[in-house]
Parts: sequence; C-alpha cells; structure tokens
Amino acid sequence: MSNLIVRHAHICTPCGLQAAKGADMSRLKEIEDGIIVIEDGIITYVGVDEGMPSLPEDKEYHEIDACGNAVLPGFVDSHTHLIFGGYRPDEFEWRMKGDTYMSIMERGGGIQSTVNATREATREELADKAQWFINRMLRDGVTTVEAKSGYGLSLESELKMLDAIKTLAEDPKQKIRIVSTFLGAHAVPKEYKGKTADYVDLIINEMLPAVKGKAKFCDIFTEKNVFEIEDSRRLLNAAREMGFDLKLHADEIVTLGGAELSAEVGAVSADHLLHVSDEGIKRMAEAGVVATLLPLTAFSLKEHFAPARKFIEAGAAVALATDLNPGSCFSGSIPLTIALACIYMNMSVEETITALTLNGAAACGLADVTGSIEVGKSGDLCILHFPNYRMLPYYVGMNCVKTVVCRGEVAAEND
Ligand code: NIG
Ligand code: FE
Repeated sequence: MSNLIVRHAHICTPCGLQAAKGADMSRLKEIEDGIIVIEDGIITYVGVDEGMPSLPEDKEYHEIDACGNAVLPGFVDSHTHLIFGGYRPDEFEWRMKGDTYMSIMERGGGIQSTVNATREATREELADKAQWFINRMLRDGVTTVEAKSGYGLSLESELKMLDAIKTLAEDPKQKIRIVSTFLGAHAVPKEYKGKTADYVDLIINEMLPAVKGKAKFCDIFTEKNVFEIEDSRRLLNAAREMGFDLKLHADEIVTLGGAELSAEVGAVSADHLLHVSDEGIKRMAEAGVVATLLPLTAFSLKEHFAPARKFIEAGAAVALATDLNPGSCFSGSIPLTIALACIYMNMSVEETITALTLNGAAACGLADVTGSIEVGKSGDLCILHFPNYRMLPYYVGMNCVKTVVCRGEVAAEND
C-alpha cells in the first residue's frame, strides 16, 4: 500500500457511494490544478493547494506531476469472461458470412467449444492466459475487473476456473482488483442436453454450496433455448438465499423478460439488454438494477446497440463494460467501448465516464470502495495524455491513458 501525491491534476470525477442514475450520470465534479493525496492506498485529500493539510513527516510520498492533464477514476470493467481455454476464430469467420451466434451454439459450437478447451486446460494455464489480457486492460486504465467462470459447466471445472481467478486476485504482484462471478448457468453442457431442469438442480444442490466463498456473484445466461425465465428464477432465488449477489445476461438475443426478472429477484445488474422491453426498463429503473451495456458485443455480432438513452431517461443507472470473451466479443478495448457508446448509443462523454467508473463499481458491488476520486475511496486513477477528457471518444478507439494508479501505486505507464 502506497503513499502518493498527484499535483497539477485536472480532476474529473463522478461522486457518491452508489450508482449515479438518470440525469445524475452527466454530473462530473471538476477541479483545475488539483491535488490528490493517497495514504496507504486510500484517498485522504482531494482539492486545491490552498486548504491542503500538512502531511506527516514520517511518511514518504511518491509524487506525480500530472502537468494539467485530466485525472479520472480508474475504469471498472464490470463484465468479462477473461478465463477461457482455446480460441474460436473459425466461428468469427462463419458469422461474418451470415451464420448466427445462436445457430452455431445450437450445433454444439459456441460456448460448448470453449468448454471443451477449458476442461482440458490446467488452472495455471488458465490463469497465465488471463494475465496476458489483464496486463492489456491495465494499460487501458482498468483498475478493477470482474471475471466470470462459466466455461467449465461441471463442478470440478467450474471450481478450477474460480481457483484460477483466485490465484490471479491474490497474486501479490497483481495490481488490478478482481471480482469473481460464478456462471455455472452459462449454457446447458452436452451431458445434460435436453435435461435443462436437471442441470439447474445440479447447480443449486451441488455447485452453489461448493463455490460459496469463492464467488461474490451468481450470474446466468437467461435466453430462449438456454435458461428460460422459470429455470432462471429458480436458480437466482436459490443463489440469493445462499448469500450470492445476482447478475443476469438478459434479453441479449430475444426479448424474454430477463430485465423484468432482474428487478423481481433484486439483482445488482442485468447485462446486455439489446432486446429489453420498455416495461423491463421501467422495472429495472424502479428496482435500482444497474443496466450494464456491452457495445463491443453488439458491434461484433453486427446487432443494434442497447437503448442507453431510454435507460437514462427512465432514471436508471447505466454501466458500460467490455464482455471480453472468446466468442461473441473477442475484445477488451476500453477505448473502443467509449467510442461506440458516444457515437452509436448517443451517450455523452460525461455519462460514458460515469458508466465506466462509478456505475461499473456499483455493478461490482464496490461503489463505496472505488469508481470516484473522493476521500475514503481506493486510490485508483487514470491520468490522461490530455487536459480535456472529451478527447476520450474523439480519439476513436485509441488509448488516451498515460499513467494508471492502482491503490496508490503506479501500475502502468504508456508513452
Ligand atoms: O456475454 N451470451 C453469453 N455469454 C457471453 C458469450 C460467451 C461465448 O460466446 O463464449 C456473452 O456474450
Ligand atoms: Fe457475458
């Protein structure tokens, strides 16, 4: 845990200990020529020179001169599948020629193909491969990332994936904060083809008790011909009773009512939502479920984008995340996520920043820990190459981040 002073910072941050909703998403606090003090990894002062308390003489502080550049909270990528075996470039080509994501999955490819490769990999191989992606995310300014299981689909392989996440999260050299999600209900494995309810029973009776303590969230792919509403409700209620916080992949391919279900079961977030109904938007806004939108997936599947404006106008909290995975979206690019959100989803830069910081943190259940530059929060920062944060979408798909700070320590420097 480190002590750090950042001087001459153009501080730009959302504020609060909870997700910012609706119109509040555009409110960023700005301080020109500001100072941020971080002690033992926690922010202890945010302001200007005048008013800064004198610092204890027995502590050493690393100093960064931000030279007037924009300083934002570290980004939070609240939806990724970064642990997986193998790759699926052949499926990408089939899709570009007109095949659909679901038809590939129904033929036994898609998620099942990554399950086969993941079951063959060791925990160490999975963790090493994921670290390669994590290192790249860090350079894009990500200081917290969520990682899902879901390519094991048997107790043994799901545990192997969660243990790989734990190995990464607890590595003393790891700078990024990693949040773990159990996604045993990602697909019905081939051994249970045609027996979805039996597989849900296995998850409820054997997997959930075994992964308790290894994952904060329980997630499910609620989709037509995967886990439909009744099976999803049964699993999510059981998981909540066992103390898991809940997430759903909802209304991604067809309108099924996953958004409404997320409100009913009190989920922390519902994600994807390309085909959400107006009623689903209303219920999520009323229930305070974070709408996590994944524009890189819509882009990669050549789909329309999720209705970000409708969510914001309904007073909901929108988060943005990458969905990095080997199938529907093989990209973990924060710069491209920002560009797509601003260009195609009509989100303002300010809303986009809030969605990738405070609201991403809320989607991870960490809005009181990170996601804004405020006293008491973790010292997680992105220092840009430019004074103006509006450069972020304008420099389309390119990385504007110069320095990344995790818990008060410089974790990455870009030229
Ligand atoms: O979030 N839709 C379900 N799950 C992932 C894709 C996983 C895969 O294709 O490997 C998603 O898009
Ligand atoms: Fe996903």
